Amino acid sequence: MATLFSLVLTKVAILLLCIAPISLSLTFKKIPLPTGATGPASFAFDLFGGPYVGVQDSRILKYEGPTTGFINVFFVGNLIDQVEAVCDGQTNDSLGPTCGWPFGLDFNILTQQLYVADAYFGLLVVGSNGRLGTILASGVNGTRFRFLNSVGLDPLIGVVYFTEFSVVYQLSNITQVILNGDATGSLLKYDPKTRQVTVLLTRLFGAARVAVSANGAFVLVSEQIGQRIQRFWIKGPKRNTTETFITFQGRPNKITRTGLGDFLVAVNVITNQSTQNVLPTVVRINAFGTVVKRVALDRQYNDTGVTEVIDHLGEYYIGSQYVNVTFVGVYGIL
Ligand SMILES: *[C@@H]1O[C@H](CO)[C@@H](O)[C@H](O)[C@H]1NC(C)=O
Ligand SMILES: *[C@@H]1O[C@H](CO)[C@@H](O)[C@H](O)[C@H]1NC(C)=O
Ligand SMILES: *[C@@H]1O[C@H](CO)[C@@H](O)[C@H](O)[C@H]1NC(C)=O
Ligand SMILES: *[C@@H]1O[C@H](CO)[C@@H](O)[C@H](O)[C@H]1NC(C)=O
Ligand SMILES: *[C@@H]1O[C@H](CO)[C@@H](O)[C@H](O)[C@H]1NC(C)=O
Ligand SMILES: *[C@@H]1O[C@H](CO)[C@@H](O)[C@H](O)[C@H]1NC(C)=O
Ligand SMILES: *[C@@H]1O[C@H](CO)[C@@H](O)[C@H](O)[C@H]1NC(C)=O
Repeated sequence: MATLFSLVLTKVAILLLCIAPISLSLTFKKIPLPTGATGPASFAFDLFGGPYVGVQDSRILKYEGPTTGFINVFFVGNLIDQVEAVCDGQTNDSLGPTCGWPFGLDFNILTQQLYVADAYFGLLVVGSNGRLGTILASGVNGTRFRFLNSVGLDPLIGVVYFTEFSVVYQLSNITQVILNGDATGSLLKYDPKTRQVTVLLTRLFGAARVAVSANGAFVLVSEQIGQRIQRFWIKGPKRNTTETFITFQGRPNKITRTGLGDFLVAVNVITNQSTQNVLPTVVRINAFGTVVKRVALDRQYNDTGVTEVIDHLGEYYIGSQYVNVTFVGVYGIL
């Protein structure tokens, strides 16, 4: 009886939320990052919780709950002394190549390893044996990666998909890169068994995030500048082919899979073409590429772009790469 009652209540709540999306903000909370940590671009969860969060100064933090808050767990830099002395809390863009920036995260539950797409260093893995990441690949065919953006694992076989946003991107000229319509991004694959990197797709318009379908049949890759998500088939009759999955009136950033097999995308809708002002939103799409929900986040983020939304046990963690974002946003219902 109680269950039925709460089910009805939930339905009523969902109905109300659909009619009045503003009430969603009531369920929004902010988890403050430690002093000096900003730009929580990406999240990952292990079996026991999290999130792990990559922040701008090279650190990967882990949330240990409200009492402890965030702790430093890993660094991606090469020398831990240098990393702690030079990088901790820094917000200087020119230190990126020294310190790194863990821009995309995903956790392999089976091997207990955290995979990291570092903007500057390449693809890394961090296990339980140390605080520094191990670089798995820093380039392909003798060319160094220029700006890795995200990593997404095939949950069944542990194959790692990752993206390079652009080869001409620099933090200082992102607006320029976007307005020029740069198409130098790519989708890549790393096979932990062979340790080989394979290029799957090139000429992507600002490749942002990759998410693998629940059964590993396809990979979705979002193109921020191209304003669309493409589907690359890994298995089945369409294997090795690509099709447009969905297009947006805005810039889709990272894309994550929910426990139910839907996908969540952080989409920054452009509100002024000349200034590139945005309205940050979250879009939920089903496995057929149909939008099932949109939520505007301007009440929480103003016109600051969001980078990622990820579902963990019914809570939605919201990230943003920008230096003045000093918290992790958490929604109760989306
Ligand atoms: C940023 O780092 C660069 C390289 O270390 C340095 O030359 C510059 O002075 C720093 N800028 C600021 C504002 O600290
Ligand atoms: C990498 O090099 C191989 C051999 O030279 C070539 O066949 C392949 O097209 C190259 N791939 C890319 C992405 O440049
Ligand atoms: C961005 O800056 C880099 C380095 O300064 C430059 O090589 C690249 O051409 C710039 N990109 C655009 C689109 O202007
Ligand atoms: C798919 O592409 C890979 C790599 O380019 C190639 O090895 C494989 O033979 C292709 N498979 C099909 C079915 O075209
Ligand atoms: C876009 O921004 C420019 C520069 O601030 C401003 O002049 C223009 O009115 C804005 N356009 C809209 C539609 O708000
Ligand atoms: C949004 O802007 C208002 C004023 O314009 C400011 O007070 C507030 O702190 C901003 N909120 C965020 C999350 O930046
Ligand atoms: C970040 O700063 C910009 C202005 O520089 C402001 O418009 C925006 O609201 C700020 N966002 C957050 C989340 O603090």
